[in-house]
Amino acid sequence: MAEFLKVAKADELSPGQARRVEVHGKRLALFNIDGNFYALEDTCTHKGGPLSLGTIAGDQVTCPWHGAKFNIRTGEVLGPPARQDIGPYNVRLTGTDIEIQV
Ligand code: FES
Repeated sequence: MAEFLKVAKADELSPGQARRVEVHGKRLALFNIDGNFYALEDTCTHKGGPLSLGTIAGDQVTCPWHGAKFNIRTGEVLGPPARQDIGPYNVRLTGTDIEIQV
């Protein structure tokens, strides 16, 4: 059953930043967009590039490998060469703990 697990403290990630977190063997990219936290799979749907190392502009991230763009809030693919959306995860803040539902 899916549960929320703590992955980081809120003050460890500034707005406009991302980092990789690992939960239950899953590699996820955690983002701070204007003080709100979002998580996507950290495996680009093109050829597996790490979105946690991508370039963030507003609520979009550009894959560092070949430039595919995704909406950080929804996981929707916005630009090629990726064609498939990427899985978003539910994130919540409990006090100062960032928790992801896995
Ligand atoms: S692996 Fe992300 S665009 Fe190719």
